[in-house]
Amino acid sequence: IFTADDIKREKIEGRNIVVIDVLRATSVMVTAMARGVEEIHVFKDVEEVFEAGRGRVDAILCGERRGLKVEGFHYGNSPLEYGEEIEGKRMYMTTSNGTKALVGSNSGRRVFTGSFLNLDAVVKRVLEEDEDLVVVCAGTDGEFSLDDALCAGMIAEGIAQKKREAEFTDSALAMRDIALGCREPKDRLAGSRHYSYLESIDFHEDLDYCLSLNLYDIVPEYREGVVRAGRLQ
Ligand code: MLT
Repeated sequence: IFTADDIKREKIEGRNIVVIDVLRATSVMVTAMARGVEEIHVFKDVEEVFEAGRGRVDAILCGERRGLKVEGFHYGNSPLEYGEEIEGKRMYMTTSNGTKALVGSNSGRRVFTGSFLNLDAVVKRVLEEDEDLVVVCAGTDGEFSLDDALCAGMIAEGIAQKKREAEFTDSALAMRDIALGCREPKDRLAGSRHYSYLESIDFHEDLDYCLSLNLYDIVPEYREGVVRAGRLQ
């Protein structure tokens, strides 16, 4: 398990990866897929989004800086903004940490996106693959973020329960400890940094939503710049 800024090419090349940005990029992605979005093109920079979406009638430009919608974009980074009207559309997305973590994971073998909203589905999907797994926690501005770590720990615990012989690195064991006995992610995260920031800019409902477990059985998969929906067999 790494945070986004610690990604080293040799550690991830050819490996299966789950990228997590619980608050809120990967929660937005799985929600948008559930609403019928077909593709999410992800970018590091705002300018790249304007450039890629230019002239496309089905394009939704979306994402945030400092948690707020970018001027000129159609949508921000609140999963609750994304309703049925986005079905069949293409999203062009940049966020402060989540899309950077995905772009940085480009050299992985298969790259999935994880969140509390699709936790069990992610565990099942990676067990189907039966390969070594690297979990990349997007974090916040280069810092460790408890929300991503808790989700990573719950994924590790899910794997441990279903596959007794699985082996874990020390960071994975540490995150499993964080997750130990946690039934309500919200109880663990109150007071953590990005959680508190989102509260301060009035995204209380996003917190309730993003910290809900297993609303979807969709496992979005990133490949060559684009996230698409994958469902369990
Ligand atoms: C990010 O990618 O940094 C986050 O999704 C920020 C946010 O909560 O909007």
